[in-house]
Amino acid sequence: MHTICVLSILGAFSRLVAGQEIAEIWQTLEDQSKLFAPLNLSQPATFSAAKASATADITVDETTAYQTVLGFGASLTDSAAQSLSQLKSKNAAAYSELLQKLFDPTFDASSAGITYLRVPLGASDFSNRSYSYDDTPGDTQLSKFNIAAAPSYVFEVLNDIQTINHELRVHVLPWSPPGWMKSSKTMNGGNFTSDMAETYAKYLLKALQGFDSEHVQVYAISIQNEVLNSNPTYPSCKMTYQDEGAIGTALRPLMNNNGFSAVKLIGYEHNWSGYKYPISLMKSYGDVFDGVSFHCYGGTVDDQDKFYQAYPNKDIHFTECTGMDGAAWWGDLSWQAENIFIGAIEHHAQNALVWNLISGEELPSSTSCGKDKKRNSCRAVVTANANGTYVLNEEYYNIAQAARAVIPRDVGGPFGKLIRSTVAPGNRTSNLHVNAFATGRAKAGDPTRYSLHVLNMAETGTYTIAFQGKQASYSFPKGLSTIGFYA
Ligand SMILES: *[C@@H]1O[C@H](CO)[C@@H](O)[C@H](O)[C@H]1NC(C)=O
Ligand SMILES: *[C@@H]1O[C@H](CO)[C@@H](O)[C@H](O)[C@H]1NC(C)=O
Ligand SMILES: *[C@@H]1O[C@H](CO)[C@@H](O)[C@H](O)[C@H]1NC(C)=O
Ligand SMILES: *[C@@H]1O[C@H](CO)[C@@H](O)[C@H](O)[C@H]1NC(C)=O
Ligand SMILES: *[C@@H]1O[C@H](CO)[C@@H](O)[C@H](O)[C@H]1NC(C)=O
Ligand SMILES: *[C@@H]1O[C@H](CO)[C@@H](O)[C@H](O)[C@H]1NC(C)=O
Repeated sequence: MHTICVLSILGAFSRLVAGQEIAEIWQTLEDQSKLFAPLNLSQPATFSAAKASATADITVDETTAYQTVLGFGASLTDSAAQSLSQLKSKNAAAYSELLQKLFDPTFDASSAGITYLRVPLGASDFSNRSYSYDDTPGDTQLSKFNIAAAPSYVFEVLNDIQTINHELRVHVLPWSPPGWMKSSKTMNGGNFTSDMAETYAKYLLKALQGFDSEHVQVYAISIQNEVLNSNPTYPSCKMTYQDEGAIGTALRPLMNNNGFSAVKLIGYEHNWSGYKYPISLMKSYGDVFDGVSFHCYGGTVDDQDKFYQAYPNKDIHFTECTGMDGAAWWGDLSWQAENIFIGAIEHHAQNALVWNLISGEELPSSTSCGKDKKRNSCRAVVTANANGTYVLNEEYYNIAQAARAVIPRDVGGPFGKLIRSTVAPGNRTSNLHVNAFATGRAKAGDPTRYSLHVLNMAETGTYTIAFQGKQASYSFPKGLSTIGFYA
């Protein structure tokens, strides 16, 4: 593995335990000369006594801790599952290799370490047709509910992923209720019909039971993707916060009484700019909702703070943003790093996800991302080629660099917690974006792992890092660096 000695430990630094003088560095550079590459340093960064007058560029304060981060990931849409399933039939070795590269959660694995996966309940804009689990109009008893309306490759692939990753959290949600529960009578756009709240809650319970019957353990369920989005070309549904609240109020006791009391109930799932909706939802229905999710398609990441300030004890998820095919590699990588993989976490999210996990040659049923019928123009974490090969995109390296900072250090150990870090003001440091984390250990007495997830948008520069009264200098290249040390 790629653990190397980069912090030479001075005797004076007595809080570091002998034998734990290890640090890790992974880098993804603007010029793509390093892509999630482990690094050997010829000149180790050394934490030593700070000069009395010295002001550090980056200050880490582990005495102030924030949320535990559950990890990074993407959505396993029907078309993503189909691409993976096709890769499995074309090239089983490449499929296994790719699942390892995406999902192996062990600390020493050279993997993106995805631990959070969002999965649509029924059709999304990345399905080969529009369907729900019960498309029989007026079936309020849900006697025709059928989890197998989903293509079988969805559960096949999910089960394969779960075999590799026991840390995986699965977050399920529909893109639309069945058409007959809506005024539009179709899944593609329209409004939820308020008097269907109880029926729809039962439908969502049946979806949880259906996933259970397919051996998929669910961590969280949202009532509706993008509650403010009605688009007649793909599954989507407008839902008022009162309707979402009424469905949640009916669903929570059904979940509690049917073995799903540990499953989190999440609301909103839409743009940063619409933060007033989740605030209203919590104000009236905070006793049934555990948290809310944000997307990037309107507003700015600091809108998450407005929800946090109103409801600091509720969970915040960041669950969707997509890059587009053909965009500039570094422009997209650095924007997503700043605003999502660093930004969303800095602004209180427990996770950060992009949209599709993988896209292939097959056609989704919509052109929600653009006119390219082939891939619908939304760039996924991975692009699958028709010949059984694949390409890892910007999103892969962003997820890998971010996950490396929070992934459990030990099997069964905790995930990293965000801790306070500050970057000194000034135009020398204004291109530097930093999150710091502390990761506890499985065995009492083992030193805590500290990590920095750094985006440097300027040319290579040497910066000082202050930690526990000591300072180290490190030359951060233009790109992403994730560094780890122990104390
Ligand atoms: C790092 O150093 C070790 C031991 O010196 C060597 O085996 C390994 O190949 C090096 N890795 C890189 C990425 O240079
Ligand atoms: C969608 O995929 C399923 C499963 O592979 C297949 O049976 C069905 O024919 C496909 N539908 C369309 C419209 O392509
Ligand atoms: C949905 O509700 C809005 C009001 O919130 C209304 O303007 C619109 O016409 C409705 N759409 C449909 C398809 O019923
Ligand atoms: C929010 O997201 C949707 C996608 O669902 C987008 O079409 C819309 O323009 C965005 N709205 C705002 C207010 O930014
Ligand atoms: C597979 O397809 C991709 C994309 O068309 C191409 O770039 C690559 O060279 C092909 N690889 C092989 C081994 O045929
Ligand atoms: C740095 O900021 C100062 C003012 O704060 C400004 O005068 C100076 O031109 C800036 N330097 C660069 C290189 O941008």
